[in-house]
Amino acid sequence: MTGRFVTFEGIDGAGKSSHIEALAQWLRARGHEVLVTREPGGTPLAERLREVVLGEPMDTLTELLLVFAARRDHLAGQILPALSRGATVLCDRFTDATFAYQGAGRGFDTSRIEVLEQWVQEGRQPDLTLWFDLPAPVAAARRGAARAPDRFESEDEAFFARVHEGYEARARSHPGRFVRIDAAGAPDVVWQQVVSAAAARRWW
Ligand SMILES: Nc1ncnc2c1ncn2[C@@H]1O[C@H](COP(=O)(O)OP(=O)(O)OP(=O)(O)O)[C@@H](O)[C@H]1O
Ligand SMILES: [Mg+2]
Repeated sequence: MTGRFVTFEGIDGAGKSSHIEALAQWLRARGHEVLVTREPGGTPLAERLREVVLGEPMDTLTELLLVFAARRDHLAGQILPALSRGATVLCDRFTDATFAYQGAGRGFDTSRIEVLEQWVQEGRQPDLTLWFDLPAPVAAARRGAARAPDRFESEDEAFFARVHEGYEARARSHPGRFVRIDAAGAPDVVWQQVVSAAAARRWW
């Protein structure tokens, strides 16, 4: 038995965290074990790497390697064991975020990211990716002054516009796995799309 691996993607402020716990509750109410986790992070080591990646100045290749090092620890220590026991894993960001942020955002060569993806994931991909699609200026307004911005959140609007395009490109090239959530509506309207996407898969 193997569980389902669901990732939540979208630019900062798009609404991922607002809906991940609600989907976990929806699944648990149907009797499923659910692991809610995030990237970078999800294990003690990967959470330490998260702090470094979000907080310390570094070049783009170092950033890319640290993100994948954290991902490897997270996969080995949390995600793969949970899937093996049949749990559903809901992960706030995964490798599509690396293609969007380090690839499109930082301008990193996609083919090199693909090499690391293959190394670290050994062919394991999410079963479903919910992409919270929100224009960069709207997301920026939602983020507002809610908290001190990290290294990514303090990037300018042009960076987020590139990251948004990066997600669009990922969605186009992985149509079977991606579901686009129109994140511009009110929270209950966004939630209806999330639950419809989950229910439509008939996995739970
Ligand atoms: N549909 C919505 N309409 C208006 N505001 C929203 C909506 N969804 C979320 N918000 C608000 O927008 C802000 C960002 O939402 P949230 O933290 O869920 O985004 P996120 O995608 O997890 O962002 P990050 O990548 O920075 O963690 C929060 O203050 C949240 O309350
Ligand atoms: Mg969040």
